[in-house]
Amino acid sequence: MADAPILVTGGAGFIGSNLVDALLARGYAVRVLDNLSTGKRENLPQDARVELIVGDVADADSVRRAVQGCRAVVHLAAVASVQASVDDPFGTHQSNLIGTLNLCEAMRESGVKRVLFASSAAVYGNNGEGHAIDEDTPKAPLTPYAADKLASEHYLDFYRRQHGLEPVVFRFFNIFGPRQDPSSPYSGVISIFTERAQKGLPIAVFGDGEQTRDFLYVADLVEVLVQALESPEAVEGAVNVGLNQATSLNQLLVAIGDVLGGLPKVSYQAARPGDIRHSRANNARLVQRYRLPEPPTDMREGLAKLLGL
Ligand code: NAD
Ligand code: UD1
Repeated sequence: MADAPILVTGGAGFIGSNLVDALLARGYAVRVLDNLSTGKRENLPQDARVELIVGDVADADSVRRAVQGCRAVVHLAAVASVQASVDDPFGTHQSNLIGTLNLCEAMRESGVKRVLFASSAAVYGNNGEGHAIDEDTPKAPLTPYAADKLASEHYLDFYRRQHGLEPVVFRFFNIFGPRQDPSSPYSGVISIFTERAQKGLPIAVFGDGEQTRDFLYVADLVEVLVQALESPEAVEGAVNVGLNQATSLNQLLVAIGDVLGGLPKVSYQAARPGDIRHSRANNARLVQRYRLPEPPTDMREGLAKLLGL
């Protein structure tokens, strides 16, 4: 097993490709399963230790082939846009739930145990409004995206109890950094705002801009994921991944303006239906089990790195 690769589903995407870089730097071989829907070949380095399988997690045979002979799995493949799931619940369900189930089955068949899963703060809906959300907060998935993430967690827990899988469930809050694709209106807000600001194009804020998110720089997230892969035990129970810091979109725009030395025109438009108002992680469990970089990357530093400054 010494040279057995780590499988990263969705490894050609934003978080996945940053993780692939970190795994290679630590000497691992990596296999990527990705349908290149939002991910890109160019996100992966030219390195003999990286194998790319272009395939869909909704296809059981592709998943079986990808899992065979791996030492562990990081399951990131999904349609990451909440809004895309509102527009196309059935289509996104194939990636976001059936993909997880295919993976569980393939792991059961091949005896691979450890799997890290990218769940989301979206499972809490608006229940955390006004305070830091801990993992026991009642779940209130407001969108098909959130429902599929929560259901995936339950399937992984079933395979843990019934078949001895070792799932480690992370509920990511809002991650940002290099290679987050800005090209669709569904992309992460920081990737859209920074790209438009750099090009001098007008920026649209949906709502009054006072909604808040807990933004974490991708390199800090990746450090946690590597620790979870290397940890001898998979501790039960989901773990929030965020900094316990609320930043409003209006504050974010000020920070981008500071880093770039100015901002283009900003307009305020109707809020997105189902949009969560305030989202901030209680990260006590995270810092108890894992080491975040000390100090974590701050917003302006992360923006400067993202903008290549
Ligand atoms: P991304 O779109 O850059 O990455 C997703 C990757 O999965 C892409 O490479 C895409 O091509 C691939 N993919 C999508 N559907 C697939 C399918 N059916 N079969 C195979 N590959 C498929 O997005 P990201 O931000 O890197 O998100 C990675 C994971 O983290 C996702 O599961 C997402 O839901 C989760 N997540 C992200 C955030 C965030 O703030 N970015 C927050 C919470 C959870
Ligand atoms: C994001 C992630 C989702 C994750 C969730 C966890 C993406 C694309 N989405 O969803 O995968 O599960 O965090 O917390 O990575 N906005 C604008 N203008 C724009 C774009 C967005 O005002 O041009 C607003 C949105 O209405 C929202 C906020 O910015 O209020 C954040 O939006 P977005 O980056 O899409 O993230 P989430 O919906 O929080």
